[in-house]
Amino acid sequence: MRIADTAAIVTGGASGLGGATARALAEKGARVFAFDLPAGIEKAPEVSGVTYVGTDVTDPEQVRAAVEQAAGAGVPLRTVVNCAGIGPSARILSRKGTHDLGLFKKVIEVNLIGTFNVMTLAAEAIAKTEPLADDARGVIISTASVAAFDGQIGQVAYSASKGGVVGLTLPAARDLASQGIRVMTIAPGIVDTPMLATVSDEFRAGLAAGVPFPKRLARPDEYAQLALDIIEHDYLNGEVIRMDGSLRMAPR
Ligand SMILES: NC(=O)c1ccc[n+]([C@@H]2O[C@H](COP(=O)([O-])OP(=O)(O)OC[C@H]3O[C@@H](n4cnc5c(N)ncnc54)[C@H](O)[C@@H]3O)[C@@H](O)[C@H]2O)c1
Repeated sequence: MRIADTAAIVTGGASGLGGATARALAEKGARVFAFDLPAGIEKAPEVSGVTYVGTDVTDPEQVRAAVEQAAGAGVPLRTVVNCAGIGPSARILSRKGTHDLGLFKKVIEVNLIGTFNVMTLAAEAIAKTEPLADDARGVIISTASVAAFDGQIGQVAYSASKGGVVGLTLPAARDLASQGIRVMTIAPGIVDTPMLATVSDEFRAGLAAGVPFPKRLARPDEYAQLALDIIEHDYLNGEVIRMDGSLRMAPR
């Protein structure tokens, strides 16, 4: 699918993987609507072609209004890239007690329900656009993690949320096939984004050393490149692609 002269939604588009993807889509000629929390948008750089829309992905009314804005841009809405996410860490049992149930629910709400919420409301808008060749209308890309498959100690909530994103990929592709909307998921390994800002250089070097090849963390622009490749490749559908340098995470 051609990216130029279409509208695209990127959630979590103010930072990290979403920020890089919003920029890359705008450079390809898309009108990009970056949905993020107001606190995220405050810190975001100004990027030509990218409009920030203060939106909590878990809130149906906010997402509906934000999708309407993207769908009314004057060019057809064809792309969604779901990058909004959070990654707190907590063990089921620790010296502090049991895993906080509210924290577990919060991670599921943002990473899984937020992804589904944006997917659903954006699909409704994409389904109203004029079809292209093969009756194609658009593509929705979500972000899981290698933690969906090999989650580490302390990642029980995060892994469950990302496993949910992996699990919905194929049935969502099947659900939306009759509307000509493809659904794909990217499962990144360790990418150098603000999500990793709190870890020490030593820990970061240790993470890089664990990657078979290339022996470094991935860059956000490599995620963006894969997202663009998926958008442009009309036969990719219903699949999860790991982008991890063949990393398999150890227990800790
Ligand atoms: N960085 C990594 O190594 C890595 C690895 C695997 C998967 N991921 C996933 O990639 C995605 C992006 O991560 P990142 O590293 O770019 O993180 P990041 O913290 O740089 O960006 C995430 C963005 O999501 C926004 N966000 C959080 N909650 C939101 C909400 N309720 N509504 C709207 N926006 C919200 C934040 O404000 C932030 O701008 C996440 O889903 C994360 O789980 C990251």
